Amino acid sequence: MSAGIKNSRKLDASGVGVTEADLPPLPDDLSQAIIDPRAWFARPDAPLEIEIGSGKGTFIVEEAARRPNVNFLGIEWAREFYMCAADRCRRHALTNVRILHTDATQFLRFRFPPGAAHAIHLYFSDPWPKKRHHKRRVVQDAFLTDAHRALAPEGELRIVTDHKEYWQWMENLFTGWCDPARKGPRFERRPFTPDDRAQGAQAGELVGTNFERKYAREGRPFYAAVLKKIN
Ligand SMILES: C[S@@+](CC[C@H](N)C(=O)[O-])C[C@H]1O[C@@H](n2cnc3c(N)ncnc32)[C@H](O)[C@@H]1O
Repeated sequence: MSAGIKNSRKLDASGVGVTEADLPPLPDDLSQAIIDPRAWFARPDAPLEIEIGSGKGTFIVEEAARRPNVNFLGIEWAREFYMCAADRCRRHALTNVRILHTDATQFLRFRFPPGAAHAIHLYFSDPWPKKRHHKRRVVQDAFLTDAHRALAPEGELRIVTDHKEYWQWMENLFTGWCDPARKGPRFERRPFTPDDRAQGAQAGELVGTNFERKYAREGRPFYAAVLKKIN
């Protein structure tokens, strides 16, 4: 993802940004590693939604401004984008957003409290097209285990991508996870409907992220699904 962020030295994440330095160190006993990000918000009891890979923050800024009764946690591992997204939220004086600078997959696996997320948004996740890089993709069987654990009952994982081959990779995983005969944790898959569109999406858009806008200009088709936590 190319940066294109100007004046990055002037960006200010204060009040919104959370870095790994702000977290307690990861203990040797990982069962003690969980922290509760709901405590980072002015209204800890509000429902919490996560965006993985917030990029420059367009989705989260628009969504948080339109849904003030929901807390939004954006997780972004590239420092320049983390700074850009946090700075935007700060300038919009949004009190219901935090942007966390870390690897979202590790955070969900080791740090996130079970059942604390009402939704997880994953839009235009990096496809890592080379086979030797597939292990870097966010969507893996282990990620679906972690996302399932992180979600509240009936919480939803919402995914949109433009990348056909990554989509096929995801669908292969979804097939197993959404099989009604599956034992143990399971998702129910449903189509991404007009009701699932982001509040800030413009006409014809699904989620209105920077990458959706860029790829829409190139005329690319999009693939989307919603996985609901069943048990
Ligand atoms: C292709 S960009 C999409 C950005 C934004 N969602 C959009 O649609 O415009 C993918 C973003 O995910 C971030 N990212 C990728 N893997 C990540 C991970 N494991 N944890 C946190 N951020 C990640 C990248 O740094 C990048 O900003």
